[in-house]
Amino acid sequence: MSAENITYNGQADAPANNRIWRGRLTFVMAAAGSAVGLGNLWKFPYIAGENGGGAFVLVYLACILLFGIPLLMAEIGIGRATRLNAVDAFGNLAGKAGASKGWKAIGGLAICTSYLILSFYIVVAGWCLYYFWITANGTFNTAGTTIDTAFTGGTFENLLGDPVTLIIFSVIFLLITFSIISSGIEKGIEKAINWLMPSLMLMLAVLIGYSAANGNFEAAVDFLFSADFSKLSSEAIFIAVGHSFFTLSLASAAIITYGAYMPANSSITKTAFAVAGIDTLVALTAGLAIFPLVFQYGLEPGAGPGLMFISLPLIFSDMPYGQLFGSLFFFMLFIAALTSAISLMEPTVAWLERRFNLRRKTAAGLTTLSLWIVSLGTVFSLNIWNSPVFFGKTFFDALDYLTANVFMSFGAMATAVFCGFALRQPQLEAMFSTDPKAIPVFRVVIRYVVPAFVAVLVISAF
Ligand code: TRP
Repeated sequence: MSAENITYNGQADAPANNRIWRGRLTFVMAAAGSAVGLGNLWKFPYIAGENGGGAFVLVYLACILLFGIPLLMAEIGIGRATRLNAVDAFGNLAGKAGASKGWKAIGGLAICTSYLILSFYIVVAGWCLYYFWITANGTFNTAGTTIDTAFTGGTFENLLGDPVTLIIFSVIFLLITFSIISSGIEKGIEKAINWLMPSLMLMLAVLIGYSAANGNFEAAVDFLFSADFSKLSSEAIFIAVGHSFFTLSLASAAIITYGAYMPANSSITKTAFAVAGIDTLVALTAGLAIFPLVFQYGLEPGAGPGLMFISLPLIFSDMPYGQLFGSLFFFMLFIAALTSAISLMEPTVAWLERRFNLRRKTAAGLTTLSLWIVSLGTVFSLNIWNSPVFFGKTFFDALDYLTANVFMSFGAMATAVFCGFALRQPQLEAMFSTDPKAIPVFRVVIRYVVPAFVAVLVISAF
C-alpha cells in the first residue's frame, strides 16, 4: 500500500485500491464535464428547435428539477458510500440492506449503457474534430466564392458517406480518451479535467459574446423562453424526459463511478445542485450562442441534427472572423465531447480492473479496442450499411434510441425503486453521511415523486 492511498482526505480507513480526488472541486468539474457534452451543445438546441422552443424548454427544466437532481444525488451517494464500480456498488448496498444481490444487474445495465453510448459518441465527436480541422483550414472561407446550403450540406453528406475519414477521426478521438483514462484517476482524469473544464467555460463565454454582437439575440431569447404549449406534442414530452437523463449522464454508471472518487466531506446536495445547474446553464447558453445566428440568417431553427454541421458553417462563412470563431466553436464541441467520453469509458474500465484483476492500462486497452470494433457499426450504418436493422431504424439510430430512451428510463426507474424501497435507513445514512438532514425529503421524493413522474411522462408519450 502506498502512503498516498492512506492519507487522501484523511480517509485512513479507505481500502488500498481506493483512489480519491484531491481537489474539492474536482468532482463537481468532472461530473459537470460528464454532463456537459454533445447532448447540451449539439442535441439540445436541435431538439428544442424541432419541438417548438419555449414550451419544450419548460418541460425539460421541470424534469431536471423533479427527477434529475434527486437521481443525481442517489447516484453520487451510491458511488461514494461504496467506493466501488457500478456493478459491485449495487451489489454491496443490496447485501447490506438484506436485499437480493440481483440488484447488481442495474449496475451492469448502466455500464452497458455507457459503453454503447461511447461507441457512437466517438463517431459524432469525430465529426466535430473533422469540422474543427476543415473550418480552421478555410474550407468554408474561400475568398470570392459564395457558399450556400448545397455546399455545406454536400460537405456534411460527403463526410457521412466516407467511412475512412469517419474512422480516422473517431479513432483519433478514441485514442485521446484512452491516453487520459490509462494514465489513472488522478494523473489522467483529474489533471485533464482541471485544464479542460475552465477552457470549455472560457470558449463558451467568448462565443456567446460573439453571437450577441453579431446575431439576432432577441429572436433567440423569444424562441427559447416564450412558451406556446399548443406546439407541445406527447412525443416532445418523451424526448424531454429522455434528454434530461441523457444530459445529466444518469443511469449510465458515470456518476456512480465518479462518486466513488469523491472526497468524503463534500455535501452531496450542494454538489448535485451545482452539477445540474452548470449543465442546464450550458444547454441554455448553447442555445443562446447558436439561435441568434440562425435567426440573423433567416435559417430554420428546427433543422435537425444538421443544424450544427450544415447551418452553422454556412453562417460562419459569412461572418466577420468566421473562420476563427467557427473553428473555436468546433474545438469547443470537441473538448465538451472529450470530458464526457472520459466519464463514459471509466465505468467499464473500473469494472474490468476489479472483476478480472487487470492492470489499468490493460483494462483501458481492451475497452478501447473493443469499442473501436463496435463503433464500426455506427460508422457503416451512415453509408455502406444504411439499412434498417431494428424497428425501422439504422444501427446508429437504434443504439441512440435504445440507450438514451429505453435503457436510461428503465435504469433511472430501477435506481429510484432501489433507493426508495430496497435500501434501509443505515444505507441511506451511509450515502448521505454529509447531509443527513436531506434523507427524509430524499426518501419521499425518490419513492413517490420520481417513479410517478417518470411513469406518467413515459406513458403519456404513447
Ligand atoms: N451527458 C452527456 C451529454 O450531454 C452524454 C452522456 C450520457 C454521458 N450519459 C453519459 C456522458 C454518461 C458521460 C457519461 O452529452
